[in-house]
Amino acid sequence: MSISHEKKMDLLVSLCKRRGFVYPDSEIYGGFANAWDFGPYGIELKNNIRDEWWMRFVKMRDDVVGIDTPIIQHPKVWEASGHLQNFSDPLVECKKCHRRFRADHLLEAKQAEPGYDKEKPIQLSDIRCPNCAGEFTDVMNFNLMLKTFIGVKEDSASVAYLRPETAAGMFTTWMNVRDTMRKKPPFGIAQVGRVFRNEITPGNFIFRLREFEQMEIEYFVHPDDAPRAFEMWLEEYKSWCTDVLKLKSDNVVYHEIDEVDRAFYSKRSIDPEYRFPFGLKELGGLANRTDWDLSRQQELSGEDLSWFDADSGTRYTPFVIEPTWGLTRSVLAVLSEHLDIDEADTAETGEKEPRMVLRFPPRLSPIKAAIFPLTKKEGMPELAKKLAADLRVQGITVEYDESGSIGKRYRRQDEIGTPWCFTIDGETMTSGTVTVRYRDSMSQERLPLADVVHFVQNHIQRNSVL
Ligand code: GAP
Repeated sequence: MSISHEKKMDLLVSLCKRRGFVYPDSEIYGGFANAWDFGPYGIELKNNIRDEWWMRFVKMRDDVVGIDTPIIQHPKVWEASGHLQNFSDPLVECKKCHRRFRADHLLEAKQAEPGYDKEKPIQLSDIRCPNCAGEFTDVMNFNLMLKTFIGVKEDSASVAYLRPETAAGMFTTWMNVRDTMRKKPPFGIAQVGRVFRNEITPGNFIFRLREFEQMEIEYFVHPDDAPRAFEMWLEEYKSWCTDVLKLKSDNVVYHEIDEVDRAFYSKRSIDPEYRFPFGLKELGGLANRTDWDLSRQQELSGEDLSWFDADSGTRYTPFVIEPTWGLTRSVLAVLSEHLDIDEADTAETGEKEPRMVLRFPPRLSPIKAAIFPLTKKEGMPELAKKLAADLRVQGITVEYDESGSIGKRYRRQDEIGTPWCFTIDGETMTSGTVTVRYRDSMSQERLPLADVVHFVQNHIQRNSVL
């Protein structure tokens, strides 16, 4: 079904609310702009992405270990990282309506307009407020750090910050982790967690938020080994997008960042970008951060963070290769990628209406199996509930549903991305078999009731969408 990008985004946002993935936050108070609640299916989807990531990059690897550090760390950490001085976005304010915008976003939007002449680069002074056509102020640098106070006094001595990235925790713990885990470069430290940025213009649903989650690895290497490690993590990134999130290769672009646009300490940076319904936008990052982070934390803490390599008898400050993933943004990419919209006749009027199926890879589906008794009679509900319990005991997320027609029950499961529905019917009582209905092909077949748990386990294991 041909559908505009705006319409697709509207349908996705309304499906997310209607089916319990993501709700507007504080709705009972009229909502709180740009804050969203993850509902029961949304949190399952997010946790599944996070758990796949942790399994792949921490548990399955000998050279990466995980940590969990506080959201509020010593304020010196942010002085060392440069966030207090430099973590800002260019802000302009309309002199008439006082709306605030990111200057770089205004320029980008103009440059993306059809017929834009690259030979005559646009200046900010040429742009008027999109809301009221007013003039803008000069550009101001707006720091994105969210500030708070620790303890009973609100004075300069009690100022603290909510972390704007998880990475710093890996630099402050590097020495402890290295020594207690008996690791030596090359090895990485991983962390997943909530971070905060006082974004000027959050928006596009859960794409740009003030509070979101990241999954990051800081991989410590000998400076000569940095180019190899960078390539290795680039391949890992690609494989993650293709094999786990199942994003089509056409929808992911690995954008090599020019030297002029890179952070001054970065030797190489690539931003993986995803084709969201509202355009090609950053999904994550990969950077060779050189020895900048450890050197800065060393300078401000006074601790020696260098590494003595006993094999070569040399001392050096490791370079850091940093692959970073936005977890919240990955949820949006997975929802956008796997939302399939076609047309169906409405039962009431016979008119066409959009029909939505979330064709998640089964490993990411919030609910793996739905169990239906065909009717509420003849012992079917009892048998169906027993099957649901048998699946749950194995850690498989299940939904039991006995209300409405079978067609409606299938439709509901399609909309939340459940790969398999099992129906207990009259034949189950006589032949001991059930119907399995596949989400993607909508085909059905019978299999022994006793085989259902194995069927689901095997299919999840294969990660195949049947
Ligand atoms: N440690 C490096 C770092 O934090 P970043 O590019 O600023 O790099 C990493 O952030 C990722 O975090 C981004 O690629 C994006 O996926 C996610 N991210 C950044 N700002 C975000 C926001 N306001 N809302 C949601 N996700 C965001």
